[in-house]
Parts: sequence; structure tokens; C-alpha cells
Amino acid sequence: MVSLRDADEKDVPAILEIANDAIRTSDTIWTETLLTFEQRHAWLATRQAAGWPVVVATDDEGSVLGFASYGPFRAFEGYALTVEHSVYVAFHARRQGIGGLLLDELLSRAEMAGLHVMIGAITASNVASIALHRRAGFETSSVLPELGRKFGRWLDLVFMYRLLDSDTH
Ligand SMILES: CC(C)(COP(=O)(O)OP(=O)(O)OC[C@H]1O[C@@H](n2cnc3c(N)ncnc32)[C@H](O)[C@@H]1OP(=O)(O)O)[C@@H](O)C(=O)NCCC(=O)NCCS
Repeated sequence: MVSLRDADEKDVPAILEIANDAIRTSDTIWTETLLTFEQRHAWLATRQAAGWPVVVATDDEGSVLGFASYGPFRAFEGYALTVEHSVYVAFHARRQGIGGLLLDELLSRAEMAGLHVMIGAITASNVASIALHRRAGFETSSVLPELGRKFGRWLDLVFMYRLLDSDTH
């Protein structure tokens, strides 16, 4: 059975491996430079110190199968109720509903926190992520063409956004 909980320091190696596998094998993260343990450790500490969620999905043995988080979208105060999120599932654990569980957890935490919009910045060719988000009620912005490069190719970006059912509208 899959369980969800807040990440802690012990999860950093697993989170790092999942993120680096995505960097190595896909264009979901727009860099070819692998993350270091120190960078992921600092990311987790910074997110949690600021009160932003980092959630992991684990199996019965406690192995981390995926993680998800959100944080600020842009720095100006006008964006204070908008967050940008990410969801990653280990390759061997995909298509078992874990990405959906993690995304639903982020959505309910964002609603409980009174946030207004959740946004994912998604490579336009990422069929799996676009389908996952559409299923969770996200809408798609128009495609922003050739916004970045990886593996010698231009990449297009879409924003997928969902207005939240918070009380603070
Ligand atoms: C995108 C990702 C998080 C989906 O996680 P997952 O655990 O496989 O997703 P789920 O099993 O919860 O799938 C939920 C729904 O999303 C859609 N979906 C997921 N993977 C899909 C795929 N490869 N092709 C088409 N639709 C897909 C389906 O509608 C699926 O429902 P179904 O299985 O009942 O048909 C996972 O593929 C992943 O980690 N990819 C690499 C990182 C990434 O792209 N992250 C998102 C960056 S914004």
C-alpha cells in the first residue's frame, strides 16, 4: 500500500535519485547537470523552513516511490496566493496512481492554506504530465515556443493551472 507523509532528511538520497533519473533520461527538468546531495538537502531545508510542503509517497517497506512539492511562483507580493508545484514518481512505480495521489495531496494542502492558484510549468511534449494534470482538473495555457534547450533541442513550455477551492477568493 502506498502512504503519503512529509519528507524528512532521510529521504534526501531517494528524492535525489528520482530527480536525477528524470534529468538523465527526460526533458522534464531543463538541465543536463545532475543535482548534488547538498543541493537537494538545501532545497528540502529551505522549502520546509518557509512552510512549503514536500511530500513523499512510500511503499510498505518505507521506500520512497515519488515526491511532490510546491513553492512560490514569482517573488512579487501580488503572486502571494499562487504556487508552482512539481511531481516526480520513480520510473518503476509509474502508472500505479502515485502521481495522482501526490497531486491530490498538494491540492488539498494548498486549499487548506488558502492559496488561490496552483501552476505546473510543463514541457509541452510531456504527455504523461499533461494527462495527469488534466485529469486533476488543471487547464492548459497556450504553448510558449522554444523557451529552453536540452539534449541539443529546443523545448516548448505550457503552464497548467488550477483555480483552488479556497475560502479566500
Ligand atoms: C508525470 C508522472 C508524475 C505521472 O505519475 P504516475 O504515478 O505515473 O501517474 P498516475 O499513475 O497517477 O496516473 C494518473 C493519470 O495520469 C495519466 N498518465 C500518467 N502517465 C501517463 C502516460 N505515460 N501516458 C498517458 N497518460 C498518463 C493517466 O490519465 C493516468 O490515469 P490512468 O493510469 O488511470 O490512465 C510520472 O510519469 C513522472 O514522474 N514523470 C517524470 C517526471 C515528470 O514528468 N513530472 C512532472 C513534471 S511537471
